[in-house]
Amino acid sequence: MRADFRGRLLAYFEEAAESYAAYIEPAFFPLVESFVDAAGLRPGDAVLDLGTGTGLAARIAAPRCRFVAAMDFSHRMAVIAAGRSAPHVFQGDMHCLPLRSAAFDVVLAVLAFNSTDPARSMPEAYRALRPGGRLAMQEWGTSDELSVLLDDTLAEYAVEDPGPDLAARREARFAYHPWDEFETSTDIADELEAAGFEHVEIDVVTPEVVFEEAADFIRYKLAWPFRRAEVEAMPAEVRALCLSDLDENLSALALPSGKLVWQPNLVRVFAQKPR
Ligand SMILES: C[S@@+](CC[C@H](N)C(=O)[O-])C[C@H]1O[C@@H](n2cnc3c(N)ncnc32)[C@H](O)[C@@H]1O
Repeated sequence: MRADFRGRLLAYFEEAAESYAAYIEPAFFPLVESFVDAAGLRPGDAVLDLGTGTGLAARIAAPRCRFVAAMDFSHRMAVIAAGRSAPHVFQGDMHCLPLRSAAFDVVLAVLAFNSTDPARSMPEAYRALRPGGRLAMQEWGTSDELSVLLDDTLAEYAVEDPGPDLAARREARFAYHPWDEFETSTDIADELEAAGFEHVEIDVVTPEVVFEEAADFIRYKLAWPFRRAEVEAMPAEVRALCLSDLDENLSALALPSGKLVWQPNLVRVFAQKPR
């Protein structure tokens, strides 16, 4: 069970890349933009964006810094990132960076460490930084109201007798992952300190993402392959009911204008490599 979380996640992100680019990146834009603002980048900085995905943080950082490089282990993500003009995109694994030591002033990582074994990936981020260099990372905090409502509604309609593909996806979703051993953001700080970082600061934030209507939020959530597979496995009439229930439940929380405001809980962690 422990062995191949990396291979499983790589296959998952390869599968997700196109829908990530179309529906997930636009939803993440405000979350990543405000994170890059908070990272305090300086014009002279050389920045490395780990787990860059479609290159969002790297693209936002590029006009603010001297040099930005963007790395992902997924070939499809890297191709999309380069196609969207992310700077210096290359393929590599956060567990063993294909880079010389002490080459960067800042390492960014948005929703990326949670896919890795932090006991191996955090020392690599440390190694990539020059003495005095800074790490800025952003991860999910506790679940938010809209996400819980969406997943609860989906679960009410989920098929009880999944075929082999869906059964394997469900098993993979709950399989062992090293990140799950972190129970609180203090555990993240402890692991960073074990890797050598100091001045670790934790900031819990709830930035807003405004969707024009509930349907846009649903489209973003269903762009993740594990949810899409759940919906596609439903018989047609059950799927129609599920989608209409999702729309009704989420529209009930929309503003009078019809706009839906999503406020995910995020944990931002800033740390420094000693001088
Ligand atoms: C949730 S996405 C976040 C993408 C991007 N940072 C953003 O905010 O839109 C996580 C990304 O990390 C990448 N990733 C996961 N594990 C990785 C690893 N071990 N090495 C490099 N990239 C990894 C995935 O391929 C995926 O693109």
